[in-house]
Amino acid sequence: MNPDLDRLQPYPFERLRQLLAGNTPPPELPHINLSIGEPRHPTPKLIFDALTAALPALANYPATLGTDDLRQSIAAWLMRRYGLTAVDPATQVIPVAGSREALFAFAQTVVDRSRPARVVIPNPFYQIYEGASLLAGAEPLFLPCTPENGFRMDVGSIDAATWAQVQLVYVCSPGNPHGRVMTIDEWGELFALADRHGFVIASDECYSEIYFDEATPPLGGLQAAALLGRSGYDKLVAFGSLSKRSNAPGLRSGFVAGDAAVLNSFLRYRTYHGTAMGAAFQAASAAAWRDEAHVVENRRLYAAKFRQATPIVQQVLRTSMPEAAFYLWARTPIGEEEFARRLHAQCNVTVLPGSYLGRTRGGANPGSGFVRIALVATEAEVLQAAQRIAEFGRSL
Ligand SMILES: Cc1ncc(COP(=O)(O)O)c(C=O)c1O
Repeated sequence: MNPDLDRLQPYPFERLRQLLAGNTPPPELPHINLSIGEPRHPTPKLIFDALTAALPALANYPATLGTDDLRQSIAAWLMRRYGLTAVDPATQVIPVAGSREALFAFAQTVVDRSRPARVVIPNPFYQIYEGASLLAGAEPLFLPCTPENGFRMDVGSIDAATWAQVQLVYVCSPGNPHGRVMTIDEWGELFALADRHGFVIASDECYSEIYFDEATPPLGGLQAAALLGRSGYDKLVAFGSLSKRSNAPGLRSGFVAGDAAVLNSFLRYRTYHGTAMGAAFQAASAAAWRDEAHVVENRRLYAAKFRQATPIVQQVLRTSMPEAAFYLWARTPIGEEEFARRLHAQCNVTVLPGSYLGRTRGGANPGSGFVRIALVATEAEVLQAAQRIAEFGRSL
C-alpha cells in the first residue's frame, strides 16, 4: 500500500463521532447538528427541472472539459460577479465534480515531486488541502490564522529558502472556519511572492456567495488579479462551487478558473483521473449559474439566522458576525472538546471542536479554545440551538 496513506489524519467528523460516542443526550430534546457544513436550505426547483429535462444525456459519456454551455455559463457568471472583462470559457474554465475533488486533484497536478516540495496551508483549514499535499509527495507548511493576526496568513513569516521549495499555496477566502475575506493588499503581496518564487495559488472560494450585505460581496481571487492589472490570471486558479451557493451539495458541481496553462495541465491530469461530471448534472449546473434570484434568497435565510442567533451565542461565548460563510467561530470558556462533549450530552446540540480543524505547530493548535458552529439548520432549529448553547454556557 502507498505509505503516504498512513500520514492522513482522521477526518474531523470521525474524531467528533468518537468524542460523543459515550453520550446519552436527553431524548426529549431533538438533536440539532451544527457541526457539519452541509447546507440544508431546499435545492431550488430550477435545478431539479433542468436535471430532469437532461436525463436522456445519461446515455452518453461526458467530456472531461464539460459542455460548452456549462463553461459559458460559468465564464459569464464570473464576469458578472467579479466585473471581469475577459474569461475565456474555452481555456480558462473547467467544470469539476465538486470543489473538494478538484482541490485534492490540483495538488497531484501541480506538485513536482522530483524536488523538495512544500505546500502552504492556512491553519485551521479545510482538511482536503493537507491530504492532497501529502499524497502529492509534498510537505504541508501551516500558517496560523488566529484572532491575534486577524485570521490572515502571515506569508511574510516565510524565509526565502523555504519559499524556494513552495510549489503551491492554498488560500481559503471567505475562510472556513472564521469567514474572513482576503483584502486586495493581501492578494497583492501573494501575487508578488508567486511571481518571485514561481508557486501556483489555489484559491478556494467555496463560500463566496454566502455573505450578509448585498452591497459588498467578498472580493474574489480572479477579481483581485484583474484589479491589480495581472493579465491572464497568471499562476492563479480559483475554485468555485454550487454546493453552498445553490444548496446543491449532492449535485457535486463546481469549477476551476484562471491560468490557462495551469488548467491545461490540470485537464490532462483529469482525463486520466476520470472525474468528468455527468451531462445531466452539467445542464442543471448551467441553469444554476445563470440564476441569481435563488442565491439572493439563500443569503436572506442565512442573514436572518445570523442576526438572531449571534447575539444569543455572544451572551456566553466570545464570537462575532463573520464577514462571510455560514459559521460562527467561537471561543470556549473551557477546553473545546469538553465544551462540545458536554453541550451534546446535556443539550443534544452538536458543534465541532476547533482543534479538529487545526494542526499543532510550535506547540500550539490555532483551533484550540474554539468551536465551529455551522448555522445550516432551519431558522427555528438554529434559534433553539443558540438558546440551548446560552443556557449551557451559563451553567459552566
Ligand atoms: C472551505 C471548503 N472548500 C471546499 C469545500 C468542498 O465543497 P464541494 O466539494 O461541495 O464543492 C468545502 C465543503 O465544506 C469547504 O468547506
